Amino acid sequence: MKILVTRAWPKAAESRLEQAGLGEVTLRNPDTSMSHDEWMAAAETYDVIMPTVSDKIPAEFYPAAKGKLKIFANYGVGFNHIDIDAAHANGIAVTNTPDVLTDCTADLAMGLMFAAARRIGEGERETRAGGWKGWRPTHMIGKKVTGATLGIIGFGRIGQAMARRAHNGFGMRVVFQDAWNVPDDIKAANGNAEQLGSMTEVAAQSDFLSLHCPGGADTYKMINADVFGALKPGAILVNSARGDVVDEDALFDALDSGKLSAAGLDVYHNEPALDPRFLTYDNIVLAPHLGSATDGTREAMGHRAIDNLEAFLKGERPGDLVT
Ligand code: DGY
Repeated sequence: MKILVTRAWPKAAESRLEQAGLGEVTLRNPDTSMSHDEWMAAAETYDVIMPTVSDKIPAEFYPAAKGKLKIFANYGVGFNHIDIDAAHANGIAVTNTPDVLTDCTADLAMGLMFAAARRIGEGERETRAGGWKGWRPTHMIGKKVTGATLGIIGFGRIGQAMARRAHNGFGMRVVFQDAWNVPDDIKAANGNAEQLGSMTEVAAQSDFLSLHCPGGADTYKMINADVFGALKPGAILVNSARGDVVDEDALFDALDSGKLSAAGLDVYHNEPALDPRFLTYDNIVLAPHLGSATDGTREAMGHRAIDNLEAFLKGERPGDLVT
């Protein structure tokens, strides 16, 4: 069994994989994105690939890997970088790593919400540049979070964790949209949240709008001019989900018109390449896809990917099989 890990993992997870006796493990080095040629060579070489969210897998890879690659044991909860239909059509199973990163992704989203609302990035830049002229009543006024209304798009694990934090910690009213008809007990346990019928209805009531839906074709650019147009004036967008969920042109228009007063972003279209317009807005907080980036979490993601692989290789159904 030849196993490829496409990017460097925390050492403890790498060591466990190397010692697990599952096969011959290649920990790819350097820690950079694989080129098209590397992917095509990997299609003929590996029985198992453990990719991650920043991998760009060419469309031609899937048919080329048919009969050789058995599983993508993904490191990460999001799997929009994998063409699931093409994988399944070519006999490749897919697993992901939910749960272990829920808390710290919701923590990061809260951090972005506060940083954007309270202008922490702008304040830090001003202070570092020596431009702070001292306390004054009109200096760098932001938006109050406590008691405000938070709209959530996508009420899965991370959306629910965000709702609990916002409601239990900061007295926020939580409204949300999800295609899933969420049972009352789950709404009550997660911020006493209210489910509304559409994204525009949520936007119309939101002081803060936080995205927690998956990326991919179904959600591509769904936060568009209609959603921004429906927002309460001066609302703040938080995106720790996927960059391609947001129509970035519409985002800049909403900032220009004042519909949005600020944004806190962790993810972007075509990341790590950033549309240069982002750098021209002082009221956007820019984080480099840090949602799961805490010490224990990145290790736990590796362990979860290995758990899935072990189950698969034993002929069992992995806990996190993507269907
Ligand atoms: C994931 O696991 O999908 C996250 O985006 C990584 O932080």
